[in-house]
Amino acid sequence: MSSAEQETINGVVISFFSTASSVGKTLIGINMAAELARQGARVVLVDYDLQFGDVCNYLQLEPEQTLMDAQRSIQLTGSSFDVRECLTPYSCRNIMFAVLAAPRKLEESYNIKTSVAQKVIEQLQGLFDYVIVDTTSMFSELNLMLLDISTIVTYLGVVDFLPTIKNMKIGSDTLRTLGYDSEKIRLVLNRSNAKTRISSEDVQKLLKQEFYYVLPNDFQAASQSIIDGKPLVLEHQDIELSDAIRGLVGLYSNRSLGGVEEPARREHKSSLLGRLFG
Ligand SMILES: Nc1ncnc2c1ncn2[C@@H]1O[C@H](COP(=O)(O)OP(=O)(O)O)[C@@H](O)[C@H]1O
Ligand SMILES: [Mg+2]
Repeated sequence: MSSAEQETINGVVISFFSTASSVGKTLIGINMAAELARQGARVVLVDYDLQFGDVCNYLQLEPEQTLMDAQRSIQLTGSSFDVRECLTPYSCRNIMFAVLAAPRKLEESYNIKTSVAQKVIEQLQGLFDYVIVDTTSMFSELNLMLLDISTIVTYLGVVDFLPTIKNMKIGSDTLRTLGYDSEKIRLVLNRSNAKTRISSEDVQKLLKQEFYYVLPNDFQAASQSIIDGKPLVLEHQDIELSDAIRGLVGLYSNRSLGGVEEPARREHKSSLLGRLFG
């Protein structure tokens, strides 16, 4: 293989999707990014919850550039656009990943073009081993594009109230109707042991689908990690929720268990973003 070929990577895109808000997309997405980075992969976390993105709040980041700047740059410079200029580095316990922040203002979010959002992901795939994408809960044009280009979609749900479950059912029926490969869409139950009168068995029967994975409830640890701005898998490694997140990441990155091929790694460099880009 020539050195030019070795340089080309095609990062794995893992997106988080749901039909209800507050099911844990952002929290679990952040932790997945942190865990993959801890394992040595180059990771970028993209906040495509355009209007109410929480990634920077949860990580206590103050980004200088956002997706809006990326869009402006694409419109001005076309193919010479460099997405790296729009990223914000995140670091905790010497583990690093990059963040592409959501726009700051509602009117900016409203003006983001899906074609631009797609170009950005495609460029990131050439730079990172993993592109983790947080979303908002809706069947929007943006999210349909993401469902198309993702390698794996984590369809996250909680079993709490009947309306949430009705919407999960609508979501999974719609995904089936749209013809997505069932291997690609991974139905993951979050906050499994939270107090509820609804059994997860009944929900699986209703959805005609088993949960691919189950994540436990730990409200105190989850809340504390948001207060501290630090991912659970880095700061609270010994708790059950961190263990479960590591297990899910393990399934995603282990090919023999239906995961995806890990892109080739490159040696880390010393500067913060330099270390991310290899
Ligand atoms: N496994 C979990 N156990 C307990 N609380 C959780 C868990 N996952 C998420 N949460 C909490 O649920 C709330 C919503 O999570 P968030 O990631 O913002 O959801 P979403 O991005 O889907 O809207 C947050 O307060 C978070 O701390
Ligand atoms: Mg969120």
